[in-house]
Amino acid sequence: MRLPKRVKLVEVGPRDGLQNEKQIVPAAVKIELVERLSETGLSAIETTSFVSPHWVPQMSDHSEVLRAVLASPRRRPGVSYPVLTPNLKGFDAAVEAGAQEVAIFAAASETFSQKNINCRIDESLKRFAAVLDAASALDLKVRAYVSCVVACPYEGAVDPAAVARVARQLHDMGCYEVSLGDTIGAGTPASVQRMIEACAAVVPIERLAGHYHDTYGMAIANIYASLELGMTVFDSSIAGLGGCPYAIGATGNVASEDVVFLLQGLGIETGVEMDKLLAAGEFISRHLAREPASKAARALLAAKMIR
Ligand code: HMG
Ligand code: MG
Repeated sequence: MRLPKRVKLVEVGPRDGLQNEKQIVPAAVKIELVERLSETGLSAIETTSFVSPHWVPQMSDHSEVLRAVLASPRRRPGVSYPVLTPNLKGFDAAVEAGAQEVAIFAAASETFSQKNINCRIDESLKRFAAVLDAASALDLKVRAYVSCVVACPYEGAVDPAAVARVARQLHDMGCYEVSLGDTIGAGTPASVQRMIEACAAVVPIERLAGHYHDTYGMAIANIYASLELGMTVFDSSIAGLGGCPYAIGATGNVASEDVVFLLQGLGIETGVEMDKLLAAGEFISRHLAREPASKAARALLAAKMIR
């Protein structure tokens, strides 16, 4: 079995992580976090979310954060800073703040779609088509998510065929990549591989990404299972921050530090410097007054203290 030689990581902590914090994190801390992440060698950092402030108040400083990140002297060439846009209103605000790349987010489960973005899946795809048209007119790249690719917090198990249907539509609409979200982290290597196989039958595997929450501690195993099928893009979250406010109980995305540790051990290149990643994780964990959820980070930081 041949694993890929190189993997791209999409850091989602500043968005997926901080959208789910009870306390509102000051914009200055968010900006500093993204700046630190920019210096680690990561090539994509999802920075914020242009959603409704009534739905997700944690992201209501989106314009201030994105503007500061894009104007920062610590910004690195070649790093992209995508932001979530649920509709044209969010898209327009993102463009106004300077966004060069946006991400739209659909679901494979009707109930989750309703709870998360207040509309049915087919209605959401119509809204996203309008976003794609507007983005194409401005030559902006659009990434897509499908949530609940293994299970839904409201409906239970989700059929891989339903995931593949939505993934295909998003890809056919012009999204350059479709990230498959195990929103509640219920997947195991077998169910994740079944789901990827269904999606890869209709969207080239190079256009698919894995976005695995670690609620049940399966995310690293699921990444390995995805690598076995040739997937080369994974989303991860610094210090394992995160969750979705509309998937109660779901914990953070797989920790970036854990993924980099796994990939380094497999000899797979990521371009990410572990020391700088650890420092970024320590920075945000200190601010949140908790230890990083990443086991690799905790072990590596403890080993550093001993040395
Ligand atoms: P809605 O209430 O149905 O929207 O919300 P509406 O179109 O009926 O408008 C109602 C009001 O909201 C209006 O204002 C609009 O202007 C305003 P009013 O006239 O009453 O003053 N509005 C907005 N304001 C700011 N920004 C906007 C916007 N749109 C409308 N973009 C909506 C629909 C989609 C906006 C709402 O449901 C929403 O913001 N949902 C976002 C929920 C969310 O952010 N969830 C977490 C991210 S997804 C996730 O975490 C999963 C992922 O990580 C993958 C995985 O793990 O599976 C990506
Ligand atoms: Mg997520």
